[in-house]
Amino acid sequence: MDVVIVEDKESLGRAAAALVVDGLRADPRLVLGVATGSSPVTTYRALVSTRADGLDFSQVRCVALDEYVGIPASDPASYHAFIRREIATPLGLRPDNVLVPDGNAADLPAACVAFEDGIRSLGGVGIQLLGIGRNGHVGFNEPGSPFGSRTRVARLSETTRADNARFFTRPEDVPTHCLTQGLATIVDAAGLVLVASGSHKAEAVAAAVEGPVTEACPASVLQRHPQATVIVDRDAAAGLRRMGRPHASLGGDWLD
Ligand code: GLP
Repeated sequence: MDVVIVEDKESLGRAAAALVVDGLRADPRLVLGVATGSSPVTTYRALVSTRADGLDFSQVRCVALDEYVGIPASDPASYHAFIRREIATPLGLRPDNVLVPDGNAADLPAACVAFEDGIRSLGGVGIQLLGIGRNGHVGFNEPGSPFGSRTRVARLSETTRADNARFFTRPEDVPTHCLTQGLATIVDAAGLVLVASGSHKAEAVAAAVEGPVTEACPASVLQRHPQATVIVDRDAAAGLRRMGRPHASLGGDWLD
């Protein structure tokens, strides 16, 4: 696992975007797994700014990590809407190149199978961007999620519902359930890039990076992945005691 510590959210976005750009240069039809939430927003903005340098995302295929159950795709709080607003439209992706699990399907388990089939038919995810919840969740894999899990219907923890209430009008509007890629689905990606900023993520980052590999901290699964990069700002790095390798090309540095 590479750990890159950068100064702030903007540098974090540039560092993560640089990895995506490398992937895009290697394969214009990159399959990019995307996370929602606040953490990756600076990454998407940094990617959008690369279009001015002539980078072309028109052949990129984009795969979501998760979606709420029971929120219409037209609702701004849905992950369908987030991906359209922050990623697909500004990057100029083709709408039929965007795969998001259907949290409004009449048969949710069948929608999970269809989503996994969709990823397989794209040839798998090339680079998967991830955020991390305060409780160490990735996607919506809450603590205790099996490492062998695949895309499924899952219940959100009350911590996660409280954290995500800021995206809804009333706290009680936050859904109780979601569809999420499982941990085994996530680690199938060729490369993982986890971004975290802010002191409220410091404990989760330390557990994920330096703690035991345990289902109690779902993000610790990254320690087992051969191509995982964790990019954090100084506040989110505050709980780290040991350090990963420096990654000068990304503008990272050591915190000694
Ligand atoms: C949600 C998403 C996760 C994301 C997490 C952290 O729960 N399902 O994919 O990583 O939020 O969000 P934020 O970056 O806003 O703290």
